[in-house]
Amino acid sequence: MLKNKKTVYFCQECGYESAKWMGQCPGCKTWNTFVEETVSAKKNPSGNLKASEKRQDPVILKDISLSEDERQTTQIGELDRVLGGGIVPGSLVLVGGDPGIGKSTLLLQVCRNLAENQVAVLYISGEESLRQIKLRANRIGDFNDKMQLLCETNLEVIREVIERKKPDVVVIDSIQTMFHEDVSSAPGSVSQVRESTNILMQIAKGMGISVFIVGHVTKEGNVAGPRVLEHMVDTVLYFEGDRHASYRVLRAVKNRFGSTNEIGVFEMCNTGLEEVKNPSEYMLNGRPEDASGSVVACSMEGTRPILVEIQALVCQSNFGIPRRTAVGTDFNRVNLLMAVLEKKVGIHLGTSDAYVNIAGGMKMTEPAIDLGICLAIVSSCKDVVIPDKVMVFGEVGLSGEIRAVSMAGQRVQEAKKLGFETVMLPEVCKSSVGKPEGINLVYVSQIRDAISYIMRK
Ligand SMILES: Nc1ncnc2c1ncn2[C@@H]1O[C@H](COP(=O)(O)OP(=O)(O)OP(=O)(O)O)[C@@H](O)[C@H]1O
Ligand SMILES: [Mg+2]
Repeated sequence: MLKNKKTVYFCQECGYESAKWMGQCPGCKTWNTFVEETVSAKKNPSGNLKASEKRQDPVILKDISLSEDERQTTQIGELDRVLGGGIVPGSLVLVGGDPGIGKSTLLLQVCRNLAENQVAVLYISGEESLRQIKLRANRIGDFNDKMQLLCETNLEVIREVIERKKPDVVVIDSIQTMFHEDVSSAPGSVSQVRESTNILMQIAKGMGISVFIVGHVTKEGNVAGPRVLEHMVDTVLYFEGDRHASYRVLRAVKNRFGSTNEIGVFEMCNTGLEEVKNPSEYMLNGRPEDASGSVVACSMEGTRPILVEIQALVCQSNFGIPRRTAVGTDFNRVNLLMAVLEKKVGIHLGTSDAYVNIAGGMKMTEPAIDLGICLAIVSSCKDVVIPDKVMVFGEVGLSGEIRAVSMAGQRVQEAKKLGFETVMLPEVCKSSVGKPEGINLVYVSQIRDAISYIMRK
């Protein structure tokens, strides 16, 4: 018995396999990630046929037919958008996210909507009991009998149930609890996760069933288990959000059937997750009036412009080294912009503490918010109020020039829609914006011009 057992070492980060333990992984260069795992001596754990027993003929691409309504809508607009227009049959979607962010809730809501559309759904949980799922389901609403539940972690049993029940959509909550008998290491280990995903992939592609897999994330925010997991699935979605804010952002980091730029915004309510159709309005809620150090900027998330309030607080430093913090944006970028203000505009910030915050807890790193950050800092430093009907966007270069940003027209339209009266934008975007009616456009080419505009106001 012992003879058949072989142990190998796997990197928990990237799945690199090695016969001996190593301190640093040669694959991903991380330290202390090798874990010993027993692998079975069985040659063909997935039960595939040998190549000589199979006979396969290639198919002519032109002859493959696709029907019009190929994608299945989830009735949740924000999720459909992130998926690229709905669920593709036979696709494997990995949903990752922090503990308690709402992964199970979202998928249960998807199941409910699909079941209502007469799609047969099988929800397999390895983490919670049937009663616990029922409790959550009661929060969400009524389910019809197209929705079936199974509490199981053994993949061979799951495969048998799926083959017998033939559902259209399967949800696996979560991949880290699933195991296959032929792999002797513990559930959640690299070889188990890889083997389990492999089996689910065969089920999805072989039977044309769409499979949603829930994956836990590590401290760094990656899906736990090997990176290969992300390569195996068709779509990887991350569910992220601030622990203290009730909204959640769903982001695609990989999508074989759609764009990866789109985001979906949800709010956690006691009846489950609700879509936030207009994130800008939501983010700007509770903005202070007539306060210095506050300005509205615009960042593009995929094809959608989102307006956020940027806040800055600049005050005299009591220590030798001034303190700077940036919440929700890049700290180094804030330092760089402060250096530009110091050198090119002559605003003395060397002895001031500065705190920059994107209100609402959203994370934004697009350079288009540069102008907003600069103006918020100046507004706080000089104690001038920027009128609340002004929105600004533009990238700030190292010589103080305001550079072009993409999709300027859409940003202006969003500001107009939300009742803003003035938009400050880069001079170079003049031709792409045209002359929209009902909104006052202020073109600036230098950060100095932008500052003198707000000082005049
Ligand atoms: N009655 C309620 N009202 C509002 N929010 C609630 C209510 N009940 C639960 N929640 C929210 O739902 C979250 C749990 O959601 P869910 O179980 O779907 O998360 P999860 O991502 O699946 O977590 P896990 O990683 O533990 O499986 C809780 O963190 C809480 O914020
Ligand atoms: Mg869960």
